[in-house]
Amino acid sequence: MQIIKTIEELRPILKEFRRQGLRVGLVPTMGYLHEGHKSLIVKAVSENDRVIVSDFVNPTQFGVNEDLSSYPRDIERDAALCEEAGAALIFHPEPEEMYFPDNCTFVDMDQLTKGLCGKTRPTHFRGVCTVVSKLFHIVMPDRAYFGQKDAQQLAVIRRMVRDLNFDITIVGCPIVREADGLAMSSRNTYLSPEERKAALILHKSLQIGEEMMRAGERDALKIKTAIQANMETEVLARVDYVEIVDADSLEQVTIIEKPVLTATAVYIGNTRLIDNFTYEP
Ligand code: PAJ
Repeated sequence: MQIIKTIEELRPILKEFRRQGLRVGLVPTMGYLHEGHKSLIVKAVSENDRVIVSDFVNPTQFGVNEDLSSYPRDIERDAALCEEAGAALIFHPEPEEMYFPDNCTFVDMDQLTKGLCGKTRPTHFRGVCTVVSKLFHIVMPDRAYFGQKDAQQLAVIRRMVRDLNFDITIVGCPIVREADGLAMSSRNTYLSPEERKAALILHKSLQIGEEMMRAGERDALKIKTAIQANMETEVLARVDYVEIVDADSLEQVTIIEKPVLTATAVYIGNTRLIDNFTYEP
């Protein structure tokens, strides 16, 4: 597996792919890859001739008191996983390669980034939009793959691609879970064995909400309250938010009549975990 560290090395390789008329897929990641990431790579490999995995812990999407320095990293393991999944190469730049010291250009978005995770992480999506735009400009893929695990991020990227006229198809991929239901995440490695058990409360509580919707309940507040109440039965959990929003606009809904996203963020100890489900009435 080729690990490319600079834009200068990457560009001629991509140019050659395009000259040969090959379809290029991009899977942006922050590394420490797991089966969730792998599902995106495998899907990309099935739909493109060459797949690039970017592996970059992007500093601009971390808030000042967040886990940038402790975020787990293991490029050798990531390379093995990418190879197994059939990727062509990993783009693994240093922060200095991606950001000039006097960088002052950012991609920012209103509305969709203000609620849900944007409330507690007000600068997060500016960092995500900026780095994903940069990766799109560097790689110029035909398709790019994102997980439904980060549902708000997926909606934000779709909107950015529309608003900024990127000629790239965004492919959303389903959430991959551990056998017991916990959504896979690089941040799960922060959990102690006791916290790991407690973390199951996210999926379990969301399932209660999903069952209510399936049974015909349409009052969003009632469902939110039931989810929240179940979360609170877990002493190690501190709920950041439980929200039911329109799946496209991410605006809050009161009555469920169109596809909705039910999303949650919960602190288990010091670790902030997210999970969600979508429901179409
Ligand atoms: P990261 O958290 O590494 O996730 C990379 C991609 O993998 C995202 O699209 C995410 O939604 C997807 N993913 C993570 N866990 C998943 C799971 N359990 N099932 C399915 N997909 C999953 O998201 C980021 O990195 C960054 O914000 C990034 C887009 C790379 C920009 O820096």
